[in-house]
Amino acid sequence: MAKESPAKPFYSVLILALVCSMLVAGAAVGLRPRQETNRKFDQKKNILRAAGLYHGQGGQAEVEKLFQAVETKIIRLSDGSVVKPAEIEPATFNQLKAAFNPETGRALTKEEDQAGLGRRENYSLVYLVKKNDRLDKVILPVRGKGLWSTMYGYVALANDLATINGITFYQHGETPGLGGEIENETWQAGWAGKKIHNLQGEPVLRVVKGKSSGEESRYQIDGISGATLTMNGVSNMMSFWFGDHGFKPFLERYKNRGDLDG
Ligand SMILES: Cc1cc2nc3c(=O)[nH]c(=O)nc-3n(C[C@H](O)[C@H](O)[C@H](O)COP(=O)(O)O)c2cc1C
Repeated sequence: MAKESPAKPFYSVLILALVCSMLVAGAAVGLRPRQETNRKFDQKKNILRAAGLYHGQGGQAEVEKLFQAVETKIIRLSDGSVVKPAEIEPATFNQLKAAFNPETGRALTKEEDQAGLGRRENYSLVYLVKKNDRLDKVILPVRGKGLWSTMYGYVALANDLATINGITFYQHGETPGLGGEIENETWQAGWAGKKIHNLQGEPVLRVVKGKSSGEESRYQIDGISGATLTMNGVSNMMSFWFGDHGFKPFLERYKNRGDLDG
């Protein structure tokens, strides 16, 4: 009987490993478009939820239909002016990637970087909902470091551009039951009606430990117990995104001019 080569099991394992890795790589590449579609669907759902236009019923077709009421624009964060679609197309603009491109983003100084982002994009997507051609709501993307992760969400403002209409978080890595409770809809409901800026225009809205109370409660959100570090992250994120390096120039410009494109 011919003696079996000692290398044979080695080659068999190698071929098996190669076939498996090709299958896994193929699946990863093949599933990427579907993951991207799901990610965009989830974002749309959260934009609508923040604006109080979606309450969890209905699938993708319903979300797409509701999203037709939303106008997507890109603004320059430095002065709040609108960027023409010919310059940057909203449908394909990747805001996170823009932050890391030296042409479309910049490093934040330690003092500026309240949300722990390191870098900030020069442009942002904003979402407008209009009623009878007048602004009804504006929904703004926000993100910032929590305890374990970067938390991503949307804040919807009423047409005074000062009062919170709703908030959603659609991605984070905080602990379920602790920081992960930022997803809790009952907690999120407590944001409606709160004001972001004080009379001096400073972004003073914060999540407090325990219950908000007194005069200042209009700028305060009740904290989630056992999640103080995540809550601090949420507060810092709000200070950053509604301050001078976030959406404040945009909100001021819109308030002063009454329309975006002027
Ligand atoms: C395994 C583990 C996971 C935790 N996850 C979170 C979290 O996601 N967010 C958070 O703020 N605190 C988290 N904590 C708790 C913090 O370490 C800290 O105790 C807490 O933020 C204090 O909040 P409190 O003052 O409201 O009790 C976690 C603790 C442990 C042991």
